[in-house]
Amino acid sequence: MAINRAFIFLGPPGAGKGTQAKRIAKLSGVPHLSTGDMMRDAVSRGTDLGKVVGPIMQRGELVSDELVMKMIEERLAQPDCAAGCLFDGFPRTLPQAEGLDRILDSKGFGKPVVVDLSVGEEKLLRRLTGRRTCSVGGEIYNVYDAPPKVDGICDNDGGKLVQRADDTAEVVRQRLAAYDRATKPLTEYYRRQGVLHVVDASASMDEVSRALGEIVKRAEGRNGHL
Ligand code: AP5
Repeated sequence: MAINRAFIFLGPPGAGKGTQAKRIAKLSGVPHLSTGDMMRDAVSRGTDLGKVVGPIMQRGELVSDELVMKMIEERLAQPDCAAGCLFDGFPRTLPQAEGLDRILDSKGFGKPVVVDLSVGEEKLLRRLTGRRTCSVGGEIYNVYDAPPKVDGICDNDGGKLVQRADDTAEVVRQRLAAYDRATKPLTEYYRRQGVLHVVDASASMDEVSRALGEIVKRAEGRNGHL
């Protein structure tokens, strides 16, 4: 499918960007690009990048725009991104958004389709501290709202479920502060460009997926369900 288009899921930590990006990417066939996942992978493999970004992520601070842009440019140069992709957790600052606009222009992509997954702060702490992720396939669970069938084990591949190191209450507070300071202003940036959609992400996962599916479908100019 050639869509020549980037989709961007914005939203605070715990809004459900990763959960929804996995679902929508699978249904629409575009690669899911999560800068957080890329950096966690670098940390777990002990690469040079991982050694730099690991402590920054552990403090709940943002990694430098320079490192993030380099990583994204390399990833976007891969053939699976030729016709489109879905960004999760990127861009996160104004310079990243401006840098992405330049890259998309140079690739001949249309304007991005940006969705802000909006959730009140009170729900985020519960979602983040309850999150567990499969150590094998990356499937996302929640001990309160989306538990696995067997405690601590992934339904899909039997992998061990682990808690992210930055999901402690103290680090979550730092991440939320970084979001308010650096990322929230991007909604205004994209609103001014006329490309922003807002989805109530405090609804159930399936309701949020339906709303996102409609937006993606319209953007792709397709009929029928994804
Ligand atoms: P990153 O990995 O991007 O984390 P984040 O933005 O903080 O977002 P999360 O992954 O925590 O949440 P999410 O919105 O994906 O929610 P999820 O679907 O998992 O970034 C981590 C760190 O990397 C940053 O702090 C920074 O250091 C660095 N970094 C990454 N990108 C960067 C960049 N571009 N620039 C600079 N630094 C960068 O859902 C959360 C939980 O809620 C799950 O348990 C899920 O099951 C549950 N849930 C989801 N939806 C629902 C629902 N509708 N109802 C009930 N529960 C739900």
